[in-house]
Amino acid sequence: MKLNATNVFLILCASFLVFSFSIYLGPLSKKANPGFNSEEAARGRLIWQNHNCQSCHQLYGLGGYLGPDLTNVISDARKGEVVIRALMKSGTKQMPAYDLSENEIHGLLEFLKSVDASGVADPRSFTNTNFGMIEKHENK
Ligand code: HEC
Repeated sequence: MKLNATNVFLILCASFLVFSFSIYLGPLSKKANPGFNSEEAARGRLIWQNHNCQSCHQLYGLGGYLGPDLTNVISDARKGEVVIRALMKSGTKQMPAYDLSENEIHGLLEFLKSVDASGVADPRSFTNTNFGMIEKHENK
């Protein structure tokens, strides 16, 4: 086969089709078990929004600054579900106690798990460089 413009075009088209099909046929997520129930997580996000948790807490460094960033609170070895659950029920001096049902707490925990699974963010471990970029401390 001669490699003229038409043939190159046809090869590119064929490659595009094969690649597109391979994407559509592949599984939606590489992780078979992401560690959370995505429907529950979506429900939890609504509860998070309805209670305005973001006004005091950050996710990925964005949000209010009265409370801590909760992006990775679920996988924090010092916290974990039991501590988080207790905190949400009883509140603290600065955080209001929410009258949440067991069902709502479960949704919120699944939401926090989904956020945790989406990446790592701890703004306290970032420093701003002179060029306006953000770098992560290696020692944290
Ligand atoms: C009025 C501000 C405020 C609101 C609104 C708020 N929190 Fe908090 N939250 C705090 C503060 C402050 C802390 C830190 C605990 C402390 O030392 O008092 C905290 C702590 C937490 C912690 C533990 C984090 C850690 O690292 O110890 C979790 C989990 C949490 N909040 C979840 C929630 C959820 C879920 C909501 C919404 C239903 C919410 N918070 C709404 C202020 C708030």
